[in-house]
Amino acid sequence: MAQLPSDFVWGFATASYQIEGSVAAGGRGPSIWDAFCAQPGKIRDGSSGEVATDSYRLWREDVELLKTYGVKAYRFSLSWSRIIPLGGRTDPVNSEGIAFYRALIEELLKNGIEPFVTLYHWDLPQALHERYGGWLNKEEIVQDYVNYAKVCFEAFGDVVKNWITHNEPWAVTILGYEKGVFAPGHISNTEPWIVNHNLILAHAHAVKLYREQYKEKQGGQIGITLDCHWQLPYDDSPENLEAAQRGIDFKLGRFADLIYKGTYPESVKRIIGDRLVEYTTEELAVVLGSSDFFGLNTYTTQVVQPGGTDESNGFLKTGFTLPDGSQLGTQAHVPWLQTYGPGFRTLLNYLWNTYKLPIYVTENGFAVKNENSLSIEEAIHDADRIEYFHNYANAMLQAVTEDKVPVKGYFGWSFLDNFEWADGYQTRFGVTYVDYATQKRYPKDSARFLKKWFTEHIEAPASDSDV
Ligand code: BGC
Repeated sequence: MAQLPSDFVWGFATASYQIEGSVAAGGRGPSIWDAFCAQPGKIRDGSSGEVATDSYRLWREDVELLKTYGVKAYRFSLSWSRIIPLGGRTDPVNSEGIAFYRALIEELLKNGIEPFVTLYHWDLPQALHERYGGWLNKEEIVQDYVNYAKVCFEAFGDVVKNWITHNEPWAVTILGYEKGVFAPGHISNTEPWIVNHNLILAHAHAVKLYREQYKEKQGGQIGITLDCHWQLPYDDSPENLEAAQRGIDFKLGRFADLIYKGTYPESVKRIIGDRLVEYTTEELAVVLGSSDFFGLNTYTTQVVQPGGTDESNGFLKTGFTLPDGSQLGTQAHVPWLQTYGPGFRTLLNYLWNTYKLPIYVTENGFAVKNENSLSIEEAIHDADRIEYFHNYANAMLQAVTEDKVPVKGYFGWSFLDNFEWADGYQTRFGVTYVDYATQKRYPKDSARFLKKWFTEHIEAPASDSDV
């Protein structure tokens, strides 16, 4: 049977605001998501991350559960405003916040689970947003982000060997500053490009700091996680092939080409023109090559054609319907997601051929349609999620064993049902059902499926007698 190499890491991912709750406990300061959720109409069910899965208090149980799932690694994010409640470089560090994450990390390690730590999964300290406009203010935010990163490298770098600077800058820029559906809720056609620039610069300076001052003594790796749906041309016509490339440029290339090639994609330059923020030579020197690996979040594939009205995707029409009228795959609870493993395989090949870096799949997962209206007993038999993971895991296995794409790790999204941002609690992505009334966790069949699949599909380490 084809197998992944013995050093392949797998596990599940979460993010601070989606699971921790206890927003005012332990000295935490508010983030832009607390403020956004407080605005009526922003979150579908009127909820917030105030309680979430209560993981700030239940973290020991969570680690125990992770252990039963057989994972080798766990990806989670740090809440900046738990560590520096007011966020800035001259603001005090909160020792309770540091102690909380330190205990979690040590507990993971004690259980043989490797931490993958995301520094920024969208929860900017509200104080920085109010003080100077947060991500819009280059001079301030880059320094404050780098200071925050430094505090984290100092506090945890002896035990954390895998760092992710940002999670999905696309979501921050487009959903947060262009469409206004995520915090901080701005609607603009210039701000997303300013934020694009500042996020990348902050990332690159944090990486520079890590490489210059910590990497050698701490021995870790650091990179950024970008997200991309594979873009499948509707058919082979030149317009559709070109549209598919444009879709990738707008979703991924706007970040990846800068970081790995030092330039914006041509189609982005042509369409955005002088709203693009140019990089100085000194800035580019810091940005170029500023990731040790390619961190990828991916959920689906879109069928694309030219002729749409949305500038943020490069004016594409996107959908799931193929020319013969069939759908790509099983529909999820969210409109933007259908199951289609072959697109994942093609995307992995594209990334390897284009950017030539080992890949960590830092998120991949599925929300079963109407899972929220099922009883717990029904919901835990999540056949559509199993079908999804089966499809995607096999596609990845083929990419690694047949196409020789160096995928080093895989994280299912998510370990727990949790606060699904603007969708609130109605959309469930977890392999663990969370009964929000009691905070009890119920493993779904998909958790067992992935444990079995990875047990069978990772080579056993060479034993002493083989050496
Ligand atoms: C994000 C997660 C989110 C998931 C499902 C990703 O874009 O990183 O925070 O819950 O998708 O929507």
